[in-house]
Amino acid sequence: MKKATIVVLVMLSLLVAGILPALAADKVGGGDITYPGKTKPQVVFSHGSHATAGFACTDCHTKTFQYKKGNVKMADMYAKKSCGVCHNGATKGPKNGKVAFAIAKCDSCHKK
Ligand code: HEC
Ligand code: HEC
Ligand code: HEC
Repeated sequence: MKKATIVVLVMLSLLVAGILPALAADKVGGGDITYPGKTKPQVVFSHGSHATAGFACTDCHTKTFQYKKGNVKMADMYAKKSCGVCHNGATKGPKNGKVAFAIAKCDSCHKK
């Protein structure tokens, strides 16, 4: 093999070695957070989709949510707090421009 070919192969293998772990650790912020339902189907909050919509960590942390799972309450949402800060049928993702459905759209969060 030519020296140049070997150099290219070594560089390629280094590239793959760098990319594969990055894909395995494909998790944005706190990842997907699942809230098991009792009377309603479970809710999955996706950090990934909210990051894609264009929100920064500081848009939610820590004025609305702590960096810790377990303080999300339906009663707060009805009072326009918690998820209801944005899920009002009007707030748009800064990057993708998609509208946050209103709290009245129960099934958009509570999915089987
Ligand atoms: C759209 C709002 C929102 C944005 C933006 C957001 N988070 Fe979160 N984050 C949440 C919610 C909701 C929880 C869970 C809070 C709860 O259950 O009380 C959470 C929890 C977490 C947790 C704890 C996870 C656990 O299992 O306990 C970490 C860590 C975290 N977020 C990191 C980040 C980082 C880093 C970013 C920016 C890349 C980010 N978050 C952006 C809403 C958001
Ligand atoms: C900072 C504003 C903001 C907060 C806070 C917020 N959302 Fe959203 N959310 C949005 C916007 C805007 C969209 C529409 C963007 C899109 O669909 O790409 C969205 C989309 C969604 C979607 C549809 C996309 C998906 O991930 O399946 C779900 C479900 C959702 N939010 C759940 C929640 C829950 C549960 C909470 C509270 C724990 C929450 N959101 C808090 C702004 C917010
Ligand atoms: C923005 C997302 C979102 C929307 C929209 C939403 N919920 Fe929830 N809901 C949640 C989350 C997250 C929890 C988990 C909080 C907890 O553990 O108490 C929850 C918990 C609940 C609970 C308590 C747990 C259970 O299964 O018994 C009830 C009842 C409930 N929601 C009813 C509703 C109803 C009715 C609507 C529509 C009027 C609604 N929710 C709309 C996110 C949402």
